[in-house]
Amino acid sequence: MKALFSTIAIGLVLMCCLATLVAAEAAKSIQLPAPQMTGGKPLMEALKARCTQREFSSEALPPQELSNLLWAACGINRPDKGLRTAPTAMNKQEIDVYVALAEGLYLYDAKANALNLVVEQDLREATGKQPFVKDAPVNLVYVADYAKMGTGPKEQKDFYSATDTGYISENVYLFCASAGLATVVRGYVDRDALAKAMHLGADQKVILAQTVGYPKK
Ligand SMILES: Cc1cc2nc3c(=O)[nH]c(=O)nc-3n(C[C@H](O)[C@H](O)[C@H](O)COP(=O)(O)O)c2cc1C
Repeated sequence: MKALFSTIAIGLVLMCCLATLVAAEAAKSIQLPAPQMTGGKPLMEALKARCTQREFSSEALPPQELSNLLWAACGINRPDKGLRTAPTAMNKQEIDVYVALAEGLYLYDAKANALNLVVEQDLREATGKQPFVKDAPVNLVYVADYAKMGTGPKEQKDFYSATDTGYISENVYLFCASAGLATVVRGYVDRDALAKAMHLGADQKVILAQTVGYPKK
């Protein structure tokens, strides 16, 4: 009888541990709502409004806004072929968008429309050398994965990863102009320190960062 109770008790403890692990695992991936692909300002008005802003409110972006922002950046707009809102040379899709939020560093998974936790730490301050980065709600970090770019020369990888990042960044600028958000793309980044904080591999290069948030009132 005593042995039976011990077995049941151990079973219950194991089930509780498993439930905790499953709950922690679930929290590490954020399923974003489907992006809204209609509405917003007409293109010519968004172009007219596009600008760099460097003063941000600390208010967090709701999941819908985050989903729309990331889809505009380089989400999948032709699911049958897995093609994106931003072009990439030879369709290598080598630019990964990391999202530094107060709760942690996430990697945008365009196919799943989800954010996957990479570092459970607030890395916003490490994404740049300007004072606003630590309080703005979202800092995107554009990271080229040279392993996805084939066997071409390094100069070609440097060139294409820089141009491909530019398209994504401009998509973000235009989305922000359309949605009334403030943004600034940033090259003033300590890339080595940031790569270390993000636990990047040898083939991954930080290209640019981009801060997004509501304009400071
Ligand atoms: C590749 C690139 C890097 C930039 N880096 C920074 C930066 O580190 N910090 C910053 O405050 N602005 C940065 N900017 C924003 C420019 O300063 C800004 O685009 C320029 O002053 C023109 O302003 P506008 O975007 O409002 O037209 C960068 C822009 C580009 C295209």
